[in-house]
Amino acid sequence: MAFADQYGPWALVTGASAGIGAEFARQIAARGVNVALVARRRERLAALGEEIEARHGVRTLAIAADLSEPDFLAPLTEALGARHVGLLVNNAGSGVTGEFLDHDLDDELRMLALNCRAPLILAHHFGARMRDDRRGGIIMLASIAGIVPTPQFAHYSATKAWNRYLGEGLHEELARDGVDVVSLCPGLTESEFFEHANVDPSGWPSPLRASIMNAEDVAAAGLKGLGGKSQVVPGLSYRMLMRASRLAPGGLSPWLVDRVMRFALPSHSDRG
Ligand SMILES: NC(=O)c1ccc[n+]([C@@H]2O[C@H](COP(=O)([O-])OP(=O)(O)OC[C@H]3O[C@@H](n4cnc5c(N)ncnc54)[C@H](OP(=O)(O)O)[C@@H]3O)[C@@H](O)[C@H]2O)c1
Repeated sequence: MAFADQYGPWALVTGASAGIGAEFARQIAARGVNVALVARRRERLAALGEEIEARHGVRTLAIAADLSEPDFLAPLTEALGARHVGLLVNNAGSGVTGEFLDHDLDDELRMLALNCRAPLILAHHFGARMRDDRRGGIIMLASIAGIVPTPQFAHYSATKAWNRYLGEGLHEELARDGVDVVSLCPGLTESEFFEHANVDPSGWPSPLRASIMNAEDVAAAGLKGLGGKSQVVPGLSYRMLMRASRLAPGGLSPWLVDRVMRFALPSHSDRG
């Protein structure tokens, strides 16, 4: 089935105002599907919508919403109106590095709502119509940090494991109904994420900096995997790293990851 027939007429991309989400929106539009763009910064969404409409001749809709708020769904569906969503990209997410116990619990709960509660609600809401239609797709944004437990990013890593598991479970469950689901597990990717996560790669050794992927390639890998794989890890080096981590007894050691994280995050490493 052609992309637009399987996943159209509308896609809904959360976190479309920056990074990987904006790239998803561009690449989905290039395949002839209209895109509803969701994030908090309305002007960014409107500018991206204009760019996409001019370049690809599809329609866009900007929906300003804070997905960490408890009641985000009703205004979002109201803004969508009768538009029929055949593709959901559960992309919006954030996380802050550092020691778990030094983080404010309310901030962690807001991250949990954004990274897990919102994608759960959206997958449940839009998935129901997809199952009835016997077509559609859902992309869950996980991470390599959702494959390897990541000290100094522990709660974020747990939220990404949650997305990975939900996506991979639904991949099998919804395949029977003609709905494609994939968990996308990027490694380090150029976006605004580092800034929000309190990470500064400028001082990293060049091999580590060279491992940073661009958002365009990450989104492309997710769309390529949709309809086939249950999990996609973009980039050969990250795929090899994840394979090696599975071969290590008990997985890649959190002890080792902790050392790497403390090296990469010198501001967090002063507790010995
Ligand atoms: N970059 C990486 O290295 C990396 C690696 C693995 C996985 N990921 C995952 O990839 C996804 C996209 O991240 P990115 O790298 O593209 O980060 P980004 O550039 O920081 O983009 C995050 C997006 O989420 C939106 N967002 C943040 N808080 C929101 C809220 N409360 N309500 C609604 N939207 C919100 C932001 O828009 P507004 O600020 O306008 O709301 C923005 O559009 C995330 O799920 C992240 O966990 C990223």
